Order: sequence, then C-alpha cells, then structure tokens
Amino acid sequence: MTRIFSGVQPTGHLTLGNYLGAMRRWAEEDQYRADALFCVVDLHALTVDHDPARVRRLSRQAATLLLACGLDPERCTLFVQSQVDEHTRLSYLMECTATDGEMRRMIQYKEKAARERERGGSVRLSLLTYPALMAADVLAYGTDEVPVGEDQAQHVELARDLAMRFNQRYGQTFVVPRTTLPVVAARVMDLQEPTRKMGKSHARTAGVVYLLDEPDVVRKKIMRAVTDAGSDVVYDRAERPGVANLLDVLAACTGGDPRALAAGYDSYGALKKDTAEAVVERVRPVRERHAELAADPAYVDEVLRAGAERARRMARPRVDAAYRAVGLLA
Ligand code: TYM
Repeated sequence: MTRIFSGVQPTGHLTLGNYLGAMRRWAEEDQYRADALFCVVDLHALTVDHDPARVRRLSRQAATLLLACGLDPERCTLFVQSQVDEHTRLSYLMECTATDGEMRRMIQYKEKAARERERGGSVRLSLLTYPALMAADVLAYGTDEVPVGEDQAQHVELARDLAMRFNQRYGQTFVVPRTTLPVVAARVMDLQEPTRKMGKSHARTAGVVYLLDEPDVVRKKIMRAVTDAGSDVVYDRAERPGVANLLDVLAACTGGDPRALAAGYDSYGALKKDTAEAVVERVRPVRERHAELAADPAYVDEVLRAGAERARRMARPRVDAAYRAVGLLA
C-alpha cells in the first residue's frame, strides 16, 4: 500500500493556504487511498525565535484543526513530531549525508535568514539544517508520496537526493519519495501582496485568511484584497497575480477551473463577493467541528498519544537499520 507522510508547523495560526494547498487533500483523498501519517512538526517551530507557551498552544490547535478538517484517527496516523524520537535520531544521519552547500541553496532558508537578519536578530543553526530534519520526517516511514504545497517541493526534492545518496553509499535503506501537488491552489498568495505566498507567520495579517477567522473577518479580508490595474477578469498569474489568486481560491473552493471561472465575471467586485462566500462556506464545517473538539482536549491528547505510539513502531526498524548501515553499533 502507498505510504503517505506530510506535516504542518505550529509557528502560527493555520491559514487558507495550508488548507487548500495541503490539509484538505489529506482529509478528503489521501487518508482514503493510502496508509497515511500526518504530523504536527513542533521541532521545526524551534528554528526561529519562539515562545514556548505559544508553540505548545499552537501544536494542540493544529492537531485539533487537522481532526476538524476530517482526518480520521481510525484511518490515518496523527501525531506530534517531538513525541517520536526517531525523527531527531535520523535527522543526524541526514546531516551527515547532506552538504552545507545544499542546505544554503534552499529558498526558504535564504528568505527566512534574510528576514531574521533584517530584524537585527541572529539565525539559528537549526534553520539551516531544517531540511535534514524534514528529510528524516519523510524517510523514517518509507514514504512514497509527500502531499504538500508548492513552497515545500524544494525540500522534498532534497529528501529524494539524500535518500538516493544514502542508499548508494550504505545499501538500500530508504524509499525515494515523490512530491504530490494539488491541481489548483498549490500556492495561495497573500491578499495584500499577491506576489508573496500567504504565510502563517507574516507580521501583516490583513492579507492572510486564517481558518479560525470569523466569517465577517474573512469577508472583509477578501473584499479588500489587492487587485490589479485594469478591470477585466482574466486568469494570468504573471501579469494579474491578485485576480489570478482570487480565481484560484474560488476554483479550489467550488471545484471549478480558474480560467473557465474568469469568463463568468465582468467586475472585480462580483468576483470578490463570490470568492468570499465560497471560502466562508468551505471553512464553516471546519470551524464548527473545531469548536466541538476544542471543548474535549482529553480526546485530542488521546488521539495524539495513540498516534505517536503507532508512528514510533513504524519508524523504529528503518531508523535502526540506517544506524547500523552507517557503521554505528546501534
Ligand atoms: P508549513 O507548516 O509551512 O505548511 C503546511 C502545508 O501547507 C502548505 N502551504 C501552502 N500551500 C499553498 N499555498 C500556501 N500559501 C501555503 N502555505 C503553506 C505547505 O506547502 C505545506 O504542505 N516544512 C513544512 C512542514 C514539514 C513537512 C515535513 C511537510 C516538516 N516536515 C515532512 C511534509 C513532509 C512546512 O513548513 O509546512
């Protein structure tokens, strides 16, 4: 059976980008067609300046939202990364397989490091080695497919390279994983800066729709989205990024095709209105289920405990084999 692994970082409140680019597919498709693991990758949240209480809170919230999106603990394995030691054990071997040049080439590292330096802060070493931990997340489970948004594709490519290199040097140990991207909304853009990805840790939140935003807040953010010069509605991501983004979001929420949808509009106002309503309707059941689950933290904790136990059992033999393969007396 196909093995799927993916994860989400508890570095901010989860966004419409996380949902349309990744989480929705996990819940609606992936868990039904494969042996799937989904992980709240809390160790990754320590790669930038962090507040311990906030990370703890956001980890619980992310797990609760994943259940609210429809992940079914009877069908898939949902767990928190730090509760399964195999991730850090294997991460070290990945650091011994990768080169520093490979790590420095990662776009996300360059962007995040530049941002930290601009703020006058220093860059944690773990921000540079982050893709080694992410490769470990994926490779520990013999993963075939990694369903992510476009921004994570480069990291999965690196995981592929590391798997192949390791296998070549030390013998067949890891499955070489591949990325799967959604058909639409692989890269949802910020509503205020449509040339930039909608990200959960942006300081300016007016262009970011959070899954737990009140419906009226969602409407306001979408109605105030930056559109482009000109007033005709065409789908052109390069020249008309603001309008194309709204069309992508509308298409992802309604199941349509963004180009075909464009033909049905002759004003930005009408497009925004329909997009806002489509998002509100899409997210409504998630918000409602989240409210129910948030009232029962003991249930969520139990799901995570059982998930971690299952994940540990799945990862352990492969990570042990990798330790032996490189010459450790493990
Ligand atoms: P993270 O937490 O930034 O995002 C979680 C998932 O959401 C997708 N995503 C988006 N998709 C479309 N448009 C957007 N604006 C958007 N923003 C986020 C991401 O591509 C991702 O699929 N490094 C990962 C977490 C991770 C992971 C892993 C993923 C750690 N280990 C192993 C897969 C496998 C991250 O920071 O995702």
